[in-house]
Amino acid sequence: MQQQQGKDVTLAGIRKTYGEVIALPHVDLSVRRGEFCTLLGASGSGKTTLLKIIAGFEKPDQGSVYIAGKNVSRTPIAERNIGMVFQNYALFPHMSVFENVAFPLRMRRLAEEDIKRKVSETLALVSLEHYHTRLPGELSGGQQQRTALARALVFNPDILLMDEPLGALDKNLRQSIQLQIKQLHQELGLTVVFVTHDQEEAMNLSDTIVIMENGSIVESGAPETLYRQPGSPFVAGFLGECNFIRQDGGGMVGIRPEHLLVGRQGQLAVQHHQGEIQQATFCGLHWKLFIASLGQTIIAYAPPDISPPERTPGHIVDWGFQPADTMVFQPDMSA
Ligand SMILES: Nc1ncnc2c1ncn2[C@@H]1O[C@H](COP(=O)(O)OP(=O)(O)O)[C@@H](O)[C@H]1O
Ligand SMILES: [Mg+2]
Repeated sequence: MQQQQGKDVTLAGIRKTYGEVIALPHVDLSVRRGEFCTLLGASGSGKTTLLKIIAGFEKPDQGSVYIAGKNVSRTPIAERNIGMVFQNYALFPHMSVFENVAFPLRMRRLAEEDIKRKVSETLALVSLEHYHTRLPGELSGGQQQRTALARALVFNPDILLMDEPLGALDKNLRQSIQLQIKQLHQELGLTVVFVTHDQEEAMNLSDTIVIMENGSIVESGAPETLYRQPGSPFVAGFLGECNFIRQDGGGMVGIRPEHLLVGRQGQLAVQHHQGEIQQATFCGLHWKLFIASLGQTIIAYAPPDISPPERTPGHIVDWGFQPADTMVFQPDMSA
């Protein structure tokens, strides 16, 4: 399959309402060509609506969509050259895998020999070269989703949109398909806008994560930057676990559970406290401790070989942290 080059997408001042519901008050977003951009937000935060507006399934009340600098706001879906994958696969149940993937090419009236070649190449790309004649009902969930992915890729789209495509798959399968999607993205140079409510999936896949809340973009950035230097307590708490500790003088710091020091280590920390262990669970890489302290529940990841008294419910332990490991938030930022 030939190398293709994605195109950039820009949303400018997009507003979308459904009757009384303001799904998107005002969204500006730029996705670079070849970028893997993930919209991450809770259910109802407007992710699907935004994707549908890029694809052309929904018309915004205000604002414009640009692809490679061209205003496509009035361009019909079929002419935007965008591939789309949905959570529920949306395969045609009575058509074979081959015919499902051939469908977009038949719509575009390609010659039969070109259809055969392109479908075969694309099915090989998603490791389904031996499944041409199967019906969707004869495939596993992961195979169905890879068929849907092939159907979205077969016509060399400029942009690939994926709306919670792995939501129905179990964890191991999800990780393996994440890896395949990431490899395809790199090999094909596609621009991808991916939607998920799973922060780990967003971290695994993305160049850029865009955090959405109530139809607005709260913050965007590279996964590591957002994790290490979130701009608000909301983002810190959304991307991984975080303890928020009020400081004298009205400020607040955020501290990740992996940076919390427990037991003897805690005594040596610059800021240290005591608390009672409420609960301890073994997670393989660490013990997860819930410690009652400062009128709240503190979450700490302690080393797997921590001594039993330092991880037994009912025991009092020291805990603390080094200032260098904290995220500092201004008093006016709401949690
Ligand atoms: N067709 C529709 N009619 C009315 N309200 C809708 C429609 N589609 C979405 N909404 C509302 O718009 C908001 C955003 O929905 P959606 O984009 O589906 O969020 P997400 O994909 O993040 O879960 C929600 O409040 C939802 O109820
Ligand atoms: Mg949705």
